[in-house]
Amino acid sequence: MSTSGLQHNPSATGLLSKEVFSQESYDAELANVFGTCWLFVGHTSMIPNSGDYVSTAMGEDPVIVTRSQDGQIHVLLNKCRHRGNRVCLFDKGNSKSFTCSYHGWGYTTAGDLKAVPFLDAAYGDSFDKSKWGLIAAPRVTDFHGLIFASWVPEGPTLREYLGDAVWYLENMMLDESIGGLEVVPGVQRYRMPANWKLLAENFAGDQAHVMVTHASVLSVRAQNIDHKLGALPGRDVRATGASYGVACNDGDGAPHGLLEIRVGESFYQHDLDQAAAIGPEAVDWVRDRQVARQSNMQAQGADPVPYGFHIGNIFPNFSLVGLGTALDGVGLILWLPRGPHETEVWQWCAVNKDAPDSVRRRQREVLMQQQSAAGVFAPDDHENFERLQNNLRSTEGRKWPFNYEMGRDKRIELDDPPNWPGTVTQALSETNQREFYRYWGELMAGKE
Ligand code: FES
Ligand SMILES: [Fe+2]
Repeated sequence: MSTSGLQHNPSATGLLSKEVFSQESYDAELANVFGTCWLFVGHTSMIPNSGDYVSTAMGEDPVIVTRSQDGQIHVLLNKCRHRGNRVCLFDKGNSKSFTCSYHGWGYTTAGDLKAVPFLDAAYGDSFDKSKWGLIAAPRVTDFHGLIFASWVPEGPTLREYLGDAVWYLENMMLDESIGGLEVVPGVQRYRMPANWKLLAENFAGDQAHVMVTHASVLSVRAQNIDHKLGALPGRDVRATGASYGVACNDGDGAPHGLLEIRVGESFYQHDLDQAAAIGPEAVDWVRDRQVARQSNMQAQGADPVPYGFHIGNIFPNFSLVGLGTALDGVGLILWLPRGPHETEVWQWCAVNKDAPDSVRRRQREVLMQQQSAAGVFAPDDHENFERLQNNLRSTEGRKWPFNYEMGRDKRIELDDPPNWPGTVTQALSETNQREFYRYWGELMAGKE
C-alpha cells in the first residue's frame, strides 16, 4: 500500500487520505493494530465464578474470556485446534469444558486439550495433547476490573500503554473509592455500516459535531430548565461547566483521546435534586461519592473540581462514556471491525456496585436513554456515519483527503486550564484525531 506521509499522519498536514479506510488498509490493520495493541475484552464482574465465561472478540478473532477452576482469567482463541471450528457457541455461561461440535475435541476452561475421541485407537504415541490446547493470549491484565489482552508476549505493560489515561480511569471513571463498577447483565450488539476508525475517533473527543449532529437533543436539553426530563440537565446547569480535550500520551505512545467536563456546583446540585426525587438513600450516595472524589483529587494535588468522566477512546477500539453525572451509568463500548465498511458495536452498561438499587436502576435507565442503540445520541451519529461510509466507496470521492486541521494552527487561550495529566486542549480541536492516526500510521508502518 502507499505509505506517503499524507496517508497516515495528519499531524503535519492536517490531512488524511481516504486510503486509510480501504480494504488494503483493513487487511493490514488487523495484524498491525489489533494483533499488537492491548485490547479490552470484558469486565471481571461478567465472570465472577470459576467456570464462568463470556464470548467476545479481539479485532476479527473470536475469543472466550474464562475464569478457570483455579480462579485465573484466560483469553482463548475460540478456534478448535483440529480444523478450526468454534468450540464455544454461546455468548456467556458456566462450564467445566468446551467441546467442539465437529469431531469432539474437548478443552478445559484454561484452554488445555483434555479429550480426543479415538485417541487410543487412531493416534500414535507421538500425539502430544499438551501441544494442542486452545491458543491463549500471552498477556492478560485486569485493570480495576477492566480486562485487557494482547497477542504479543512482550512490550509495554498495560499501565505503560494506558499512560496518562490511567489517572482518568482511576479517578474519574472507575469509582474505586466508592466500590467500583459492575456490568449489568446483557450486551447491546448491532452493526453499523461504517469503518471502525470513524467511530473510535468520534469518541476520542469530537466536540465539534455535538452542536450540529445532536442539535435536536441540545434543544430539548435547553428547554429542560425545570429538570422534568430527569436525565438531561438544562442549559443553566451545563453552562456552568467547561469542556476540555485531553490527548493522553501526546506524540509518544498509544493515543487515548478524552473529552472531559469540569463542571461547577450547579451540576452537583442538579444531581442532588434528581437524587431527592429518587429517595434519601440516593441523596446520601451522591454526597458520599462527591466527598470521596474530592478528597481523592486533593490528596493527589489535582484540580478538585472535576465531577465526572464524559467520553473517551482507549486506542484502538474501546470507548467509554459517562456523560459526567453521578446518576448516569458507564457505557463500555467495543468497535469491532467487520470489514472496511462495517463495524459490530458491543455496548455494556456498568453501574456502581455499592450504590443503592434505586441509584443503579437510575444509572442504567439514563445511559439507555442517552448513549445506546435507541438512545437520543447514538442514532444521530449512525445516520452521519452511514452516509460518510457510502461516500468512501465512490471512486472520485476517494481521491480527496479528509481535513483534520481544527485546533492545529489556531488555539483558543485556555482560561485557568485544569491541572490534569496529558495534554489538555480546547474542546474544539482535532488534536486527539490527529494523534489517533499518528499512532495508527506508526503501527501500519511496522513501528512499535
Ligand atoms: S474441528 Fe474441532 S474436533 Fe474437529
Ligand atoms: Fe455523537
